[in-house]
Amino acid sequence: MTNPDYRNLFISSFPLILGLIGFFGGLYYFRNARKIFERQKRRFSRSLKELTDQLEHSEKERTKFASMLNHMSEGLIAVDTHKNVIAINPSAEKMFHRSTGSSLGKSLLQIVQNSTVEKMADDVMENQSLIKREISRTLPELQFFDVTVIGTQKSQGDVCAILVFQDVTRIRRLESHRREFVANVSHELKTPLTSIQGFIETLLGGTLKDTEKSESFLKIMEEDSKRLSRLVVDLLDLSKIESHELLLKPVPLQLAELVQQVLKLFELQILQKKIRVENKIPSRLPPLSADPDKIKQLLVNLIDNAVKFNQEGGKIILYAENVAGKIKVCIQDTGIGIPENDIGRIFERFFCVDKARSREAGGTGLGLSIAKHIIEAHGGALSCQSELGKGSTFTFTLQA
Ligand SMILES: Nc1ncnc2c1ncn2[C@@H]1O[C@H](COP(=O)(O)OP(=O)(O)OP(=O)(O)O)[C@@H](O)[C@H]1O
Ligand SMILES: [Mg+2]
Repeated sequence: MTNPDYRNLFISSFPLILGLIGFFGGLYYFRNARKIFERQKRRFSRSLKELTDQLEHSEKERTKFASMLNHMSEGLIAVDTHKNVIAINPSAEKMFHRSTGSSLGKSLLQIVQNSTVEKMADDVMENQSLIKREISRTLPELQFFDVTVIGTQKSQGDVCAILVFQDVTRIRRLESHRREFVANVSHELKTPLTSIQGFIETLLGGTLKDTEKSESFLKIMEEDSKRLSRLVVDLLDLSKIESHELLLKPVPLQLAELVQQVLKLFELQILQKKIRVENKIPSRLPPLSADPDKIKQLLVNLIDNAVKFNQEGGKIILYAENVAGKIKVCIQDTGIGIPENDIGRIFERFFCVDKARSREAGGTGLGLSIAKHIIEAHGGALSCQSELGKGSTFTFTLQA
C-alpha cells in the first residue's frame, strides 16, 4: 500500500479511533466514578452510623440518668435564678407530700415550706458554693432532713442550685428512743435502790432494835430487791431478743397443758381477787411448734396483766382455735380496759397507761414489749382490742 493509502486509511479510521478512545475513557471514568461514589457512600453510611450510635448512647445515658433520679432515695430539686422548681424527682415529691408533676414552676419555699432551705439556696447562688445543714419540719408530722445545696455555674442551662434532701427522721427517732430508754432504765433502777438505801440508813440509825419496824422495813426491801432483779432479767431478755441472740428451741407443744401450768402460778392472786377463769382451750388442738420456755413467759406476761388489771370479781376467758393451720389464742378479761389512744403504745418498752398503778402492782411496762418480741421471733403476731372500763382481749397466732 502506498503512503497516500495509509493516510486515507488513518483518516477514515480516525473517528473510529476517537470513538474507541472515548469509549474506553468513558468506561474508565465511570468505573472510577462508581468507585468514588461507593467510597463516599461508605463514608456517609459510616458517619450516619456514628451519629446514630452517638444519639443512641446519649439517649441511653439520659434514660440511665433519669432512672437513677427516679429511683434514688434522696430527694432532689433543681431551681432557677428565681428559686422556682425546674426539676424534682419522685422521692422529693413524696418527702414534701406533693402529687406527681404538681411542683414544677412552683417556688422552692412553697414546696419545702422551710425558710432555712430558701436561705441556703440564696447563699449558694451568691457564692456558687456548697452548704450542708440539718433541718426539721413539724407539719404534717415531725420530720428531719439532711440538706445539701449546691450552687451551679450560670452557663449550665437554667439550673442555678441543686438541693439534695436525705430523710433522717428514722435515725433521729431511734436516737430519741435510745435516750428515752436509758433515762427510763436509770429511773426504774434508781427508785428501788433509793428506797433500799433509805431503809438501810434508817435501820443502821437505830431502828434495828425495834423488831417490828425492822421486819416491815426488811419486807419492803425484799420487795424492792425482787423488783430490781425482775427488771434486770426483763432487760436482759429484751436485749437478747432485740439483738437476735434469742435462740429458740422449738418442740411440739400442747397449748392446753402449758396454759394449765401458767394458771397454777396465779392461783393465789386469782383467789384473792375473786376472779373467775374460764379456760376454753381445747385439749385436742394440733401441737404448736414453739419454744416452751418462751411461750410460757409470753403466757405469764399476758395472764399476769389479765389478773393485775382486772376488777374484783372479774372474769378471764381463754380460748383457742385452729384457723387454716395457724393456732389463734385469745386471752380476754373484764378489767379496766385501755384508752383508745394508748392501745397503739402498750407494746412500747416502759409504757404504762397509769404509771403509779403499774408501779404499785410491781410492773415496769416491759411485759408486753417482751411478749410481742417472743411472738414475732416465732413468726407470729400479737394484737390487742380493748374498751375502757369493759376489758381487753389479747390475741396471738402461732404456726401449728
Ligand atoms: N389486760 C390489760 N388490761 C388493761 N390494761 C392493760 C392490760 N395489759 C396491759 N395493759 C396496759 O399496758 C401497759 C403495759 O403492759 P406491760 O405488761 O408491758 O407492763 P406492766 O404490766 O405495767 O409491767 P410488767 O409487765 O413489766 O410487769 C400496762 O401498764 C397497762 O397500762
Ligand atoms: Mg405486764
